[in-house]
Amino acid sequence: MHESTLTLTVDGVSRTVTVDTRTTLLDTLRDRLGVTSPKKGCDHGQCGACTVLLDGRRTLSCLRLAVAEHGADVVTSAGLRVGDDLHPVQQAFIDHDGLQCGYCTPGQICSAVGMLEEARAGHPSHVTEDLEAGLDGGAELTDEEIRERMSGNLCRCGAYPHIVAAIAEVAR
Ligand code: FES
Ligand code: FES
Repeated sequence: MHESTLTLTVDGVSRTVTVDTRTTLLDTLRDRLGVTSPKKGCDHGQCGACTVLLDGRRTLSCLRLAVAEHGADVVTSAGLRVGDDLHPVQQAFIDHDGLQCGYCTPGQICSAVGMLEEARAGHPSHVTEDLEAGLDGGAELTDEEIRERMSGNLCRCGAYPHIVAAIAEVAR
């Protein structure tokens, strides 16, 4: 067994941990550091429950080896709030009842935050009409765009319409 020691900033706190080099970022967060906001749904990159923001970009933490992320900045859904203030996306999920069992919610919220940044930066999606032009930073994100861009996140209990409504409120 080979072990490596790495340091991550997790939700603003520097954390150093020694792990088997085969350990995923998700298992490092949950099992070694006690950070349980990201969830393990499939462990295969298919559900999005483990989504975190890694150096500002949404990332499936079950598909990353922790040792490859030494020095990275990791933000989970739990780390999005500032003091007592919820992140606007978190508040919108509450306001629109965008959760039922809540298991997928941390990943949905991290993915939404990352997706909104991608959209603001003009990144196109598969349903963007003009892929060359991308999405104008000022353009409205349609529900179709939101659904496509969030399609990597599954909600097993089917709160999709409310999740789309929550994200749309923040986007517009
Ligand atoms: S647990 Fe990572 S995508 Fe499902
Ligand atoms: S809130 Fe239940 S699976 Fe998404």
